[in-house]
Amino acid sequence: MSIAEISRETETTTGHAEAIAPRETLIPNGTPDAASAPLQALRDWVDSIAALTQPDAVVWCNGSRRESDLLTKQMVAEGKLIKLNPEWRPNSYLARSAPSDVARVEARTFICSESEEDAGPTNNWQAPDSMREELDGVFAGSMRGRTMYVVPFSMGRVGGPLSQLGVQITDSVYAVLSMGIMTRTSDAVLDLIADGESWVKAVHSVGAPLGTGDEDVAWPCNDTKYIVQFPESREVWSFGSGYGGNALLAKKCFALRIASVIGRDEGWLAEHMLLVRIISPEGKKYHVAAAFPSACGKTNLAMLRPTVPGWRVETLGDDIVWLRPGEDGRMWAINPEAGFFGVAPGTGETTNVTAVETLWGNTIFTNVALRDDGDVWWEGLTEKAPAHLVDWQGNDWTPDSGRPAAHPNSRFTVAAAQCPQIAEDWEEAVPLDAILFGGRRATNVPLVVEATDWSHGVFMGATISSEKTAAAEGTVGELRRDPFAMLPFCGYNMADYWGHWLTVGEKLRFDRAPRIFQVNWFRKDDDGSFLWPGFGDNSRVLEWIVRRIEGRVSAKETPVGRIPLAGDLNLDGTDVTEDALEKLFAIDPGSWLAEADLTEEFFAQFGKKVPPAMNSELASLRYRLRTS
Ligand code: OXD
Ligand code: MN
Repeated sequence: MSIAEISRETETTTGHAEAIAPRETLIPNGTPDAASAPLQALRDWVDSIAALTQPDAVVWCNGSRRESDLLTKQMVAEGKLIKLNPEWRPNSYLARSAPSDVARVEARTFICSESEEDAGPTNNWQAPDSMREELDGVFAGSMRGRTMYVVPFSMGRVGGPLSQLGVQITDSVYAVLSMGIMTRTSDAVLDLIADGESWVKAVHSVGAPLGTGDEDVAWPCNDTKYIVQFPESREVWSFGSGYGGNALLAKKCFALRIASVIGRDEGWLAEHMLLVRIISPEGKKYHVAAAFPSACGKTNLAMLRPTVPGWRVETLGDDIVWLRPGEDGRMWAINPEAGFFGVAPGTGETTNVTAVETLWGNTIFTNVALRDDGDVWWEGLTEKAPAHLVDWQGNDWTPDSGRPAAHPNSRFTVAAAQCPQIAEDWEEAVPLDAILFGGRRATNVPLVVEATDWSHGVFMGATISSEKTAAAEGTVGELRRDPFAMLPFCGYNMADYWGHWLTVGEKLRFDRAPRIFQVNWFRKDDDGSFLWPGFGDNSRVLEWIVRRIEGRVSAKETPVGRIPLAGDLNLDGTDVTEDALEKLFAIDPGSWLAEADLTEEFFAQFGKKVPPAMNSELASLRYRLRTS
């Protein structure tokens, strides 16, 4: 069914007369002067992409409810979305991706800066000219038989002081709908562009043109994939995938890779972090950002319900934070996104009841299982699996099937505003009090360690390592270095990025800079069981962190940083034993020295770019370990 047909159908049911407005009707529609040069430049760019990709039609989106209703109907009619039973899950849909298109493809992600050194050894690099030539080849005619959508969006509230603008072109309706949830998609963005505000160009094609008479498939994509960032021209080009960060270009590609470069040039930071407000029993508010690698519990911590009486957590963001030093010497933070694109498996009543409540309706699920009653299910949603499901690939499933019903990287896409504990002012910047760095570490890394100063904290961020998860392609469980949880997301040389963190730190007033901590909820006992209960009980660690900020508790110096004094970590009501506590904070100098050797090796790949402060942090760590 075409958009025009769908809108005709909608007309009869809802009384709306127009189809989705093409550009010419949107622009006079109360917004930009078509004669403005920046707007003309935008139109020229859109025309040039259309000339290259040759879509059948071009539609300019405005993010309205009517638009998303029409597009959703279209996808359901085409068999690309399954409407869930509105009795359980109103206005919610299930998408099933191609089995080959289920995660970010880091091996096909490129930073095409002018100089290879600027991309650094941890990014794939190709010279911009040769990459553009290659992209011209794959994008030529790639939208044939499809509609090309133009999606103007703002990261951060439209017109906000820390916000940035972008326009994504895509031939994926799934991407349009998801961008409508994850960003502020609005034609008000065109007004700002018309006024001369800068914006990021993002081009996306699933790479599956349709010839006359070709049947479309439920999830078009291409085995050849490119996720390409051009940092100097602030451009993203993505080809071949319809999934997550590969296709919702505002997220990882723009808000992290390109934004990290803009931040480097303008003196701020784009980070892979959650953002929360912690409210103490005395009613004092503290803001904490935390960087954990993908699928390590950022969303769970962002939506934490404290088990410690009297403490409250309000959610501000679960994946990306932009940080900017203010004139007051504090670090100010926003969540630039408008929604959550969360990993479903492991999200349940006991682990993240807030997320479960957030997903009551208006949600797009991808690659989860379908229940017989038309609702969704995934591993961890309930303790017991339903007796029968249709799995993420559309096959019958029972608990005896011996395979997961939902893909391990299956997702929900939902508006942040729907979260029952979202902070009332979540769209505004907040002053940051603490930054946490964490990962999934079965051994070695204590439950919580405080950095002694900014430079030590940057060293902690630079040396994060974590066990691999399903969020990216690769072997789950292997240990990988993931500095600042930004390894796949830093748009320039990682060592320069550490240097930038040090420089930004210099702009903060020493007594107002956020304090930095390393946390690890995942340490295991010799029998493989977790030593720490995690989830709501992580509030106990947050309580200690807040009490440190308030100066109400002191700490024990260790070679790796400061840890709680015996008795200061509130364990009332838990079954954490003395023995477990000891193991949670055990620091084995031998294993840490071995890690220090690995850190030296890791740093070596960056050569002279490693900031001297990082090398001296490593040297002092070794000295402290040897003399402890
Ligand atoms: C994500 C990721 O999707 O980090 O948020 O992979
Ligand atoms: Mn993420």
